[in-house]
Amino acid sequence: MLYIGIDLGTSAVKLLLMDEEGSIKNIVSKEYPLFFPHPGWSEQHPEDWYEKSMEGIRELTEGYDRSKVAGISFGGQMHGLVALDDRDEVIRPAILWNDGRTGEETDYLNDVVGKDRLSQYTANIAFAGFTAPKILWMKKNEPENFARMAKIMLPKDYLAYRLSGSFCTDVSDASGMLLMDVKNRCWSREMMDICGIKEEQLPRLYESYEIVGTLKKEVAGELGLSADVKVIAGAGDNAAAAVGTGTVGDGMCNISLGTSGTIFISSRKFGVDEHNALHSFAHADGNYHLMGCMLSAASCNKWWAEDILKTKDYAAEQEAIHALGENNVFYLPYLMGERSPHNDPKARAMFIGMSMDTTRADMTQAVLEGVAFGLRDSLEVARSLGVSIERTKICGGGAKSPLWKKIIANVMDMKVDVIESEEGPALGGAMLAAVGCGEYPDVETIAKKIVKVVDTVEPEPELVEKYEEKYSRFKKIYPTVKCLYR
Ligand code: XUL
Repeated sequence: MLYIGIDLGTSAVKLLLMDEEGSIKNIVSKEYPLFFPHPGWSEQHPEDWYEKSMEGIRELTEGYDRSKVAGISFGGQMHGLVALDDRDEVIRPAILWNDGRTGEETDYLNDVVGKDRLSQYTANIAFAGFTAPKILWMKKNEPENFARMAKIMLPKDYLAYRLSGSFCTDVSDASGMLLMDVKNRCWSREMMDICGIKEEQLPRLYESYEIVGTLKKEVAGELGLSADVKVIAGAGDNAAAAVGTGTVGDGMCNISLGTSGTIFISSRKFGVDEHNALHSFAHADGNYHLMGCMLSAASCNKWWAEDILKTKDYAAEQEAIHALGENNVFYLPYLMGERSPHNDPKARAMFIGMSMDTTRADMTQAVLEGVAFGLRDSLEVARSLGVSIERTKICGGGAKSPLWKKIIANVMDMKVDVIESEEGPALGGAMLAAVGCGEYPDVETIAKKIVKVVDTVEPEPELVEKYEEKYSRFKKIYPTVKCLYR
């Protein structure tokens, strides 16, 4: 049998075809535009997601026996607000996870409703990119749109809806809406009241590996697939990536270096940190996880290389870097504000520490190190909870760089396990489809069978020590400069 995993990302949709043994048969990627209509805003058109996914599925399955495709599932960019009216028309462009327009609404939720109550209702506090503050923003700034809103969904759920007609979401992705009681895996009545919405506007909640329906007849016809193909709920991209890297069960860690950067710690037990600096979300394996999310990770390197240096030859830029742990230039990676742990949509990126002998390579190195230090900030919160993590998996575009993996291993003082396929969310999506179709009994079993570690990057004590000193300086920069962002 064949399974399709769809990773609905921020710059592109990536589709992956996997057989029942877990071998990857084909991968296709289709880009779509991202719009920044105001500084700090970030939007996309759901129709672009659908068209590119349909095109992608056709291309992905070209030349394969399409009658063997049994299931489709997803990993999707999280937190985005997709709103449909009562005729299923998309009301306005989707407001994405890295959109920072909801500063006021976030402050209202955290300061007026109060962090304690939010944490009690949802296990989380408000962050600018979460969905509930966006609903409040719409209520205040676009009341006609708010009044028309019949269905509220997340990006990948829009695809599931168009493909199957099922108005559904899954618990991992829904955790990031600030509308779900994460511990009990159900919608929070209190949060619905606070946002002025009703339960019928929200999708039905499923576990990530559950079947939500089958392909609509006309969609199946367009794709050349059977209308019996099952659509499985899927997961937020980080939970899907965790499945794809075998970060399931208890105490496992994955770092994702995509447009965003995340550190994801799986747990069989539900838990929250004292200040809610890390997200406490449901996991796609039926358990829970803690996660820290930086809004700009590999996107910092992309911006620096492509927009500023005007090159796409990342390897050549990195070849010029030699002196790890010796760089006097620091970079704050806050191009779109920052989520974890600062929760500051107004923060911005900066370089600091240049001198007349600073080189282009020093600046590139500072970008790679700044992202690693940003991830370390979240790791510190996890460590303060008593979570001890010795090793991590890694995935996402940035994980292709051996140098970046080495920097991360040493800045974090963790072993970095490199896996055979770095296709995190798309592979995780296909794996969830295989579990949903009954090919495997559960997510942990398929992860054990399919995910293979092929190499490990070990931290080097001398370099760890040097980076420790650099990190202690990095940590002081944001608190010192944050007054400049107001
Ligand atoms: C996680 C988050 C990002 C997006 C990226 O909380 O906002 O990782 O899911 O697609």
